[in-house]
Amino acid sequence: MRIRVLGSSAGGGFPQWNCNCPNCDGFRRGTLKAHARTQSSIAISADGSDWLLVNASPDILTQIREAPELQPARAIRDSGIAAVLLMDAQIDHVTGLLMLRERQTPLPLLATPEVFSDISSGFPITGILSHYCGVQRQELPIDGSTVNVPGLPGLQVQTVSLSSKPPPYSPFRGNPRPGDNIGLLITNPATGQRAFYAPGLAEVTPALIELMSGCAVVLIDGTFWTHDEMQRLGLSAKAALDMGHLPQSGPGGMIEQLDQLPAGIRKILIHINNTNPMLVEDSDERALLTQHGIEVAFDGMDITF
Ligand code: MLT
Ligand code: MN
Ligand code: ZN
Repeated sequence: MRIRVLGSSAGGGFPQWNCNCPNCDGFRRGTLKAHARTQSSIAISADGSDWLLVNASPDILTQIREAPELQPARAIRDSGIAAVLLMDAQIDHVTGLLMLRERQTPLPLLATPEVFSDISSGFPITGILSHYCGVQRQELPIDGSTVNVPGLPGLQVQTVSLSSKPPPYSPFRGNPRPGDNIGLLITNPATGQRAFYAPGLAEVTPALIELMSGCAVVLIDGTFWTHDEMQRLGLSAKAALDMGHLPQSGPGGMIEQLDQLPAGIRKILIHINNTNPMLVEDSDERALLTQHGIEVAFDGMDITF
């Protein structure tokens, strides 16, 4: 089973178009040891030729150009993307659906009823797409049952309902429901090994620690280093948890959570905001992660399990 990280950044990407925080500014000046990153998406394949796109980021066209495996060229119009699955209805995870409109058949789209509701009202993407390729809608259960993905017989996935936040255009922004945000458990049927992907996560429960303890790889929310990162830079009035993201540092933070997992599990932070100091490859923050055996995802990262 292969996972290709198409975009490892949170909304805005790195560097962000209008941002002059120390990271974005330092990157442009060439004074930082860091790599640019596109917005949040991964692709999963059992056979290396047909892929499940997990999230459709605003950077999807660039991401496809950078990933030759997504362009197998078996016909005059073709794509390695067999279906799309959404983790939430946030702009950075759904806007790319509009860029896939040139398909000749409806796009197989898997999401929870809550996410389908937000992308057909507050941000009415499915309505717009109905004038182009349309979508073939498949509702995702959040009861832990195994989901078969159309066109991808070798892939077994399960969803996990997570505590985070729906987007600002959701009527439930202040009052999240189960299904607004999910994590994805991917099983390799040949080996039984599993990977867990959760780019938006506000709370790590004991049940989640148990679930992750049974995985070979976890790809988890790496948005913010500190809870007041955006506030201290004067970029936002909101703290990390107000936006549905558990920061890495501090008591109860993601580093402490990941420290509870048994040895041997690959721990990878993903969905990284451009303000996060761990983006700087020779920073103290990055060194601390290395000490804890935690990796930082990058665009083009290939994970096999
Ligand atoms: C988030 O997950 O909080 C987002 O990255 C927000 C956004 O896309 O603007
Ligand atoms: Mn996001
Ligand atoms: Zn920035």
